[in-house]
Amino acid sequence: MLDLTAKVHDESRQGEAYAPFVNDPTVYRKKFYIESYGCQMNFSDSEIVASILNKEGYGATRNAEEADLVLLNTCSIREKAEQTVRKRLTEFRKAKESKPGLLVGVLGCMAERLKAKFLEEEKLVDMVVGPDAYRSLPGLIEEAETGQKTVNVLLSRDETYADISPVRLESNGVTAFVSIMRGCNNMCSFCVVPFTRGRERSRDAFSIVAEAQDLFDRGFREVTLLGQNVDSYYWVNEEAAATVQNAAGEAVTFAKLLEMVALVSPDLRVRFSTSHPKDITEEVLLTMAKYENICKYIHLPVQSGNSRILQLMNRTYTREWYMAKVDQIKRIMPDCGISADIITGFCTETEEEHQETLSIMEYSKYDYSFMFFYSERPGTLAARRYKDDIPEEVKKRRLQEIITMQNRLSVESNKLDIGQTYKVLIEGESKRSDQDWMGRNSRNKAVVFAKGNSNYKKGDYVYVTITDCTQGTLLGYLQQ
Ligand code: SAH
Ligand code: SF4
Ligand code: F3S
Repeated sequence: MLDLTAKVHDESRQGEAYAPFVNDPTVYRKKFYIESYGCQMNFSDSEIVASILNKEGYGATRNAEEADLVLLNTCSIREKAEQTVRKRLTEFRKAKESKPGLLVGVLGCMAERLKAKFLEEEKLVDMVVGPDAYRSLPGLIEEAETGQKTVNVLLSRDETYADISPVRLESNGVTAFVSIMRGCNNMCSFCVVPFTRGRERSRDAFSIVAEAQDLFDRGFREVTLLGQNVDSYYWVNEEAAATVQNAAGEAVTFAKLLEMVALVSPDLRVRFSTSHPKDITEEVLLTMAKYENICKYIHLPVQSGNSRILQLMNRTYTREWYMAKVDQIKRIMPDCGISADIITGFCTETEEEHQETLSIMEYSKYDYSFMFFYSERPGTLAARRYKDDIPEEVKKRRLQEIITMQNRLSVESNKLDIGQTYKVLIEGESKRSDQDWMGRNSRNKAVVFAKGNSNYKKGDYVYVTITDCTQGTLLGYLQQ
């Protein structure tokens, strides 16, 4: 039998499917199944799609075999991400053969990148819908039901889905993503995102705070504010600015937004991702330091530790500039955790330049990293300008060295936590044992500890003293 049920990878949620939200046939006349790939933004978008579909009478199912509509929310960031989706589509081809009415739609970045070409390449696909076109899904589904192939890949300058309340599917009820902006105006030469997601735009600050408040009222205790480049968040209340009294002071920067969300409740933790090193300001760092509930953890992708490569990547900072940023973070928040994204084997990268990536990792002491080898993406500046000239075996070897370095740094960082006591938000039972809780400390490290005789539950804050660690987890005991 085909495996069309949820696939959950250990290190990430790639390909995860959603559990039924409400399985009541009187509410929902049809069923949809959605799988998401790529970054958290895509997972967050799937929750917006679910909300739009719920209103149309489609309820979510975790089992693709009983679905009337199958959606894949896709990612184009690396060649491999696209291959995974194509492989998955061939599996759905078989499902479609045995169920003629089944509709298959491709959403997200791959839909945007390939547009109508998708319909030529993958004949079984009925709908191709880009990330800014989800409001048109109901109409597109209706058309597809008549046997028409449909495409909407229009990018928008102002769509933020601000008024759509995402359906929290497959949620632990404690942590949630809140999208604060869309698109990206940077032009990192390796990156396909500006092409698939369009221009940067920031969402209404009040709708963000209202969503965080609503989540808190429903028992959630942590929100992660999401954007490709959160530090360039900038929103002006046009309505208020239009009235004379309020003409000044209505612009909301990311630092201000962080504060607004932090003030929802001291018991609501606030996280954010991703920070471009060039845009994270001292004001943001000071705001983080000021509020205990803004988590002391920054995802600060470095990409490379060498200034020449950084320039070719169009990252607009140098090695020294990045290191100074790390110093500034540690000066303002000595306990702040930092993680990174790293690309190895970018065009023309020499062995010495690779060594500089290893040494900047050591300098920054990352708690963890997401590590990739360079994958050329059609249409990007790098694809047009530079030759992808590092042989695959060299890329792989360098990547392995980077992974080995990160493993060492993660263990070293975790060892420093032994003997410390941390405030931990309980997210759920540990994967390994229902006798243990799993939660995170402010620094985003996973902490596992025995439940003991306590009456704590998911969403509670507890204090845990760390006694041991693995590469990815701190182990400890509950302070009674
Ligand atoms: N907006 C985020 C990154 C989004 S993409 C930022 O600027 O930090 C996530 C990560 O994928 C990037 O940080 C980069 O490390 C990696 N990535 C992007 N394009 C890639 C490519 N062509 N090949 C390999 N890795 C890539
Ligand atoms: Fe891509 Fe750069 Fe934008 Fe990140 S900041 S999404 S890497 S272009
Ligand atoms: Fe992938 Fe698109 Fe995110 S390319 S990483 S899903 S913005």
